[in-house]
Amino acid sequence: MTQTITVIRGDGIGPEIMEATLHVLEALQVGLAYEFADAGLAALEKTGELLPAATMDSIRRNRVALKSPLTTPVGGGFSSINVELRKRFDLYANVRPAKSFPNTRSRFPSGVDLITVRENTEGAYSAEGQELSADGDTATSITKTTRRGSERIVRYAFDLARRTGRKQVTVVHKANILKSTSGLFLKVAREVAAQYPDIACNELIVDNCCMQLVMRPEQFDIIVTTNLFGDIISDLCAGLVGGLGLAPGANIGTDAAIFEAVHGTAPDIAGQGKANPCALLLGAAQMLDHLGMPDKATRLRAAIVATLEAKDSLTPDLGGSGNTMAFARAIAGRL
Ligand code: NAI
Ligand code: MG
Repeated sequence: MTQTITVIRGDGIGPEIMEATLHVLEALQVGLAYEFADAGLAALEKTGELLPAATMDSIRRNRVALKSPLTTPVGGGFSSINVELRKRFDLYANVRPAKSFPNTRSRFPSGVDLITVRENTEGAYSAEGQELSADGDTATSITKTTRRGSERIVRYAFDLARRTGRKQVTVVHKANILKSTSGLFLKVAREVAAQYPDIACNELIVDNCCMQLVMRPEQFDIIVTTNLFGDIISDLCAGLVGGLGLAPGANIGTDAAIFEAVHGTAPDIAGQGKANPCALLLGAAQMLDHLGMPDKATRLRAAIVATLEAKDSLTPDLGGSGNTMAFARAIAGRL
């Protein structure tokens, strides 16, 4: 039976990089059927809603979505659509690989191959208890860490290590200062790690982790951490290996998974054919792994690397003068 996925073209550069990505997937003969659905500004203009029920139904039905970046209008009391999607589908694992690529502006053109596994639903981003005192001088919020939330994300990281033949999981925390929340996360992580004697586990305090990442990123394999630290660390890692144009991310839950580029809608270059499609393409590769097509995922990644190596039609962010579709055609031509 043909697998159907939900495709969200998104806002800004979204439609451009989605067109490029679908062109490459066509050449890869992935045999997927697409159900197009709207979200973000595109949906607001058509339906009056940022996240229409039809889009939610589509994701619920297909369980897999490929999504371009979305604009959440600032002001008007809209909450972030991405945060909303993660919450509604309980997409608890945010999985962000960072691997060295040739011919990028990266300081580490080789040697880096790590994955950040970020808890995606709680911690400092649980959005609870956000308060500003009446005089506007004191702000508070609640950071919530649960045993269930910590256990499932650490387990995800160790299972990912086993599944992909990786050898080490680094638990990143700040339990020395944030004794209750980060403390619970670390305690649960140690309990889970004990159940995976075949995978090495080490612990790092988040500030030291950042320094180590910048100095010697080759030492990392899988990093697992809480929401806020994971958000920051994964962007740092994207910066190590060539920037946002090459950084994909997967949001994975039990009932659904959404694959995307880490970057936003890039309004400064939207509609100009300058956007690098690789981040979304690499998100699509994660999706193919998830759908049980690892061979196609591997071929896709290899074609991207070969195109970078040949400096064929690279987009301006990579120092080239190609455009989005030319870059996509160059990748498709190497499949
Ligand atoms: P951004 O990631 O859109 O852009 C930051 C810089 O990186 C810009 O200079 C942009 O031109 C460049 N850039 C980003 N992606 C690129 C690509 N594929 N190729 C070449 N250059 C690229 O971040 P910004 O400007 O902070 O946010 C813009 C909008 O995107 C906001 O409305 C924000 O809410 C939204 N956003 C959406 C996300 C999502 O839907 N997943 C994630 C982050 C932001
Ligand atoms: Mg972020």
